[in-house]
Amino acid sequence: MSTDLPLNQAESSTPPLSRRSMLGAMGTGFGLGYAALASTQAQAQAAATGKTGEAKPTALTLNADDTTYFAQEEPYFMQLARDEFTLDPAVVYFMAAQKGSIPKSVMLRYKEGLDQGARDPFPVYVQPVAQMRASIAKCYGTTPDQIAITRNTTDALTLAMNGIEWKAGDEILISPLEHPTGITLALRIAARYGVIIKQWGIPVGKNVTADEVVAALQRRVVPGKTKVIFFSSPLWPTGMRLPERKIAEVAQKAGAITIVDGAHYNGMIDPKLDETGIDFFALCGHKWQNGPGGTGVLYVRNKKLPSNQTDLPRFHLIRSQSRDIPFDGSRGDWDIGAALTFYGFPESGDWRALTDACLLWDKIGRQRIEAWHMRLGNYFVKQLVANFGEASILRPTQDPALNSGIIAFNPFPTKEQRWNEKLNVDFRANMLRDYGFRISGLGVGNNGLTRRPDPEAAAFPAGTIPNRDPASLAPAPMDHPQRVNACVWNNRAQIDNFCAATKDLVKKMAV
Ligand SMILES: Cc1ncc(COP(=O)(O)O)c(C=O)c1O
Repeated sequence: MSTDLPLNQAESSTPPLSRRSMLGAMGTGFGLGYAALASTQAQAQAAATGKTGEAKPTALTLNADDTTYFAQEEPYFMQLARDEFTLDPAVVYFMAAQKGSIPKSVMLRYKEGLDQGARDPFPVYVQPVAQMRASIAKCYGTTPDQIAITRNTTDALTLAMNGIEWKAGDEILISPLEHPTGITLALRIAARYGVIIKQWGIPVGKNVTADEVVAALQRRVVPGKTKVIFFSSPLWPTGMRLPERKIAEVAQKAGAITIVDGAHYNGMIDPKLDETGIDFFALCGHKWQNGPGGTGVLYVRNKKLPSNQTDLPRFHLIRSQSRDIPFDGSRGDWDIGAALTFYGFPESGDWRALTDACLLWDKIGRQRIEAWHMRLGNYFVKQLVANFGEASILRPTQDPALNSGIIAFNPFPTKEQRWNEKLNVDFRANMLRDYGFRISGLGVGNNGLTRRPDPEAAAFPAGTIPNRDPASLAPAPMDHPQRVNACVWNNRAQIDNFCAATKDLVKKMAV
C-alpha cells in the first residue's frame, strides 16, 4: 500500500456487519443528565487529582491509584456520552484524532444556523464574528486579537508557514514525526525559498523525560541560523506530547520562531495558549474539540507576553481581505486575528458551532476533560502493557509531561510482523469488521521528510514511523503504529474488551 494514499484510508470502509460483538456497548440507565453528575469544578478537580485543591491533573504518573478517580468520573463521562453523542452504538470509536463527533446540543444549533442561512442568506455570519473569536479566545487562554478562525489545522499551518519572511539559507528545524500536512509545507517552503530542512531525533522508550526531549532538540538548534522550530504536540504517529513551553524557551534564547501543529492539542489538553510562549499555534476544530468539519483556529502571538518577551517576527498575511494591515510584513498594534479571519464569506453556521463546541468544553471543564483523556489513556497503556508487554507501546509512559490521550502500540510479537504494512493495515480492517472497534494507524515510512531519491529513504519501511537517532541522526524507524484514542465517550470496559479482541486477533493473524 502506498503511503500516498490518504491517511487512515484503511479505516474508511463501512462499519462492520458480521460477528461484531457488542463488546463496547456499556449499560444504560443513568437517570440524571451528565450535568447533574459531579458537576462542580471543585468536585471534578478533586476527582481528577485525587485531592481537593491540587492544581495539575495531568501531573499524574502511570502508577497513580485510579480507584477514586474512576468511581466518580466514569459515571459522569458515560452519562455525557449518552446525553451528547450520537456515535453508532454498534461500533466503539477509539478515535477523535481523525474527526471528532459533534455533540447533540452543538448540532442542534448548527442545524438551526444552516436553516437560518437558507431562509435568509443575506447575513454573512449567524453571530457577530468578533463575539465568536472572543469566546474562543477565552476558552483557549488568550485574547481575541491573537485568534483567527480557519478551515482546519492544515489551513492554519499554511497561513503560519507561508507568512514567515523566509530567505534562502534559513533553516527550519523539524521533527521527523510530523504529519504529511507539516512535511509537505516544509518541503514546499524549501523548494520555493531555498530554506534548509534540518531534522532532530525524538528520544524513544518508556522512561524518556521531557528534559531528554528538549536536549535532543537543543543539540540541533543553531542560533542565528535556525529561523523556525516546527513541531507537533502531541505527535500524531506516537501520541507523545512534546514540552511546548520548554521548547519555546529554547527557541526564544536562540532567536527562533516557534510554529506548532496542535491538531490534537485543543480539545484534548486545556490550551492555555498565552502561557506556552509559542509564536504560532495551529489548532483543529473538528478533532478532539468535536466541532464541525472544516473548522480550525490559528493562534498568532500579537504582543510581548510574560511567557515570551521577544519581538514579534515579521509576518505576511497570506489570506486576508483586510487592507488596513501593512503589506510589508511589519508588525504593530493591530488586531491580526481579525485580519486573518476576514476572508470572503466562509461562515455558514459552522463557526458558531465551533464556538458552541468550545463553550461546551468550558462548561464541562477543560481540566476535567484533560484529566479524563490522560487517566483513561493511562488505563489504556496499562492494559496494553499487561497483555502485550512494555515493548508494545510506542511512546514514553512515565513522564506525565509527555502523555496524551493518543496511544500508539503494536501488539505483534516479532519485528518482521511489526514492520509489515499489509499485516498491520489488515489488522485494523479485521478489528473493525470482526470486533467492531474503530482505530487508526500508519506512519509515513519512506514518504516523509526523507524520501526518494534520498538513498536514506530506503531505511524506512512503508508505513513505519521515520524517526532518527537523537545522537547520530541515523534512520531509526519505529514500528508500524496502531493508534487508539481515549475519548470522552469511551470507558474502561471498552478498553478491556478491546484488549481481549486484540489478543484474539493477533493469535489468528500472527501465524
Ligand atoms: C498532527 C496533525 N496535523 C494536521 C492534521 C490535519 O488536520 P486538519 O484536518 O485539521 O487539517 C492531522 C490529521 O490527522 C494531524 O494528525
